[in-house]
Amino acid sequence: TTPTTAIITIDGPAGTGKSSVSRRLADRVGARYLDTGAMYRVATLAALRAGADVAVQQEIIDTVAAVAMTLSNDPSSHAVTLAGEDVSDEIRTDAVTQAVSAVSAVKAVREKMVALQRELVAGEFAVVEGRDIGTVVFPDATLKIYLTATAEARAQRRHDQNLAQGRTSDLAAVLADVQRRDHLDSTREHSPLRPADDAVQVDTSNLDIDQVIDRLAELSNQRIGVL
Ligand code: DC
Repeated sequence: TTPTTAIITIDGPAGTGKSSVSRRLADRVGARYLDTGAMYRVATLAALRAGADVAVQQEIIDTVAAVAMTLSNDPSSHAVTLAGEDVSDEIRTDAVTQAVSAVSAVKAVREKMVALQRELVAGEFAVVEGRDIGTVVFPDATLKIYLTATAEARAQRRHDQNLAQGRTSDLAAVLADVQRRDHLDSTREHSPLRPADDAVQVDTSNLDIDQVIDRLAELSNQRIGVL
């Protein structure tokens, strides 16, 4: 039997395979899915489009307050809109990736996003993926997963992905960027990246995506009985 309300949280740094794993786990266990990183990316795109200086907190706050975004909670959909426009590709550009740590560090931005995240899966059985989902957004979640991997393993994955997608990529530069974002995300004052005390930690450094999904499906089955 599929539960009607249960939340599985999946947190961890970039490059652990978190997004693909979360989406496919949701599909496998018949849950809704929410990519909260996409929401911070939309907020960042809105700030950049409005010409805000992301080094100035008040400019971020003013532009993000007015943001109208929609997100699907269907695991097979990548649809994300900003003011009615499909921005699912544009939120993955380097400009957005560079600025997103600054925008997501702002308390007022986080408060708005957290309220929206709770609304989007209210009353649903859902896999919710991000950085602070088990610690802040859904502290009472049924199952909390924290995915980890060494910085080197995560950089290698992103490097391979860049090459596979036909982009030029420099492994050393990718590693430096991974480390830069880890540092910003884990040392910020509001909702820093850290595992919840009751999270199950899964190190994906030496696992492929199917192995990670099998492990998480097994944990979901034990905890929720969805399979
Ligand atoms: O998962 P991602 O790379 O798409 O996330 C983009 C950025 O958003 C990341 O640098 C950290 C931030 N983020 C956050 O602060 N809190 C979340 N719940 C999800 C993402």
